[in-house]
Amino acid sequence: MRQRRFFDCPLSEKMLYTAFLLLMGVGYQMALVFLYTSHEGHDGKPGLSIEDIVDTYYGNRSGTRLEAAIRGPMAGFLQKIEDRHQIVAWLKEGASEKGYSARIRPILGKTCLQCHSPASGLKVPDLSTYAGIRAVANVDTGESLHTLMKLSHIHLFGIGLVALGIGLIFRLSAVSTWLKVTLMVLPFVAIVADILAWFLTKWDPVYAYTVVAAGALLGLAWTGQILISLYQLWFLRAPEEKI
Ligand code: HEC
Repeated sequence: MRQRRFFDCPLSEKMLYTAFLLLMGVGYQMALVFLYTSHEGHDGKPGLSIEDIVDTYYGNRSGTRLEAAIRGPMAGFLQKIEDRHQIVAWLKEGASEKGYSARIRPILGKTCLQCHSPASGLKVPDLSTYAGIRAVANVDTGESLHTLMKLSHIHLFGIGLVALGIGLIFRLSAVSTWLKVTLMVLPFVAIVADILAWFLTKWDPVYAYTVVAAGALLGLAWTGQILISLYQLWFLRAPEEKI
């Protein structure tokens, strides 16, 4: 028996598929506009760039007052270059309290705290407590893991269902099996790669490229499925049946 194709569908079914595909197409465009407006200009420059994506997930980790101070006016108070490396590394890792007590406090104790503790009477940031140093060590580490988890499960379910819907319609198209399988499975692969890359970008900004590549792949696969489906729904005629 021949497989069911678009030209076998009654008008009502064709209308249903067309409406759904158009809606999803518009939805995808809206998502793009939303992405653009919510990430654009994060880095202070107009337009969406890799830096904007890095800023969103990785954050801008170079902007603490503490790092500026030890690279600038306070540099002379550090006895060893390794001390600076230690402090910078601690900042990059998110400036944890554990790290402060274990590695940073001893370094500051050598010279900094002579001035940077309440005892000195100077009007300078208090670096002798974790609460005090936080004020100058606030690092922007991008979206929190909690937010990413929330967004991921919404995305996985939502996009998964859209991919299923579009794929179920697209399966009625008359194209080669490999093209059909590729276009159908690609969105699922892309969404997993995309979400994985959000978390990886938190760890290393280079994965921002994966976020972009996965997004592009998802867009291409869906555009392909939607356009082929719409075309074949309305323009592909049934071949002459052999009797
Ligand atoms: C002799 C006293 C003295 C020592 C020692 C000292 N500082 Fe300071 N520090 C100051 C003073 C005074 C200011 C405020 C004036 C300024 O901002 O330049 C300041 C400002 C700062 C600030 C705030 C910068 C800002 O953006 O407001 C930081 C952070 C800082 N110091 C870190 C350190 C670190 C880390 C060390 C040790 C390596 C250190 N300081 C050693 C006197 C000291």
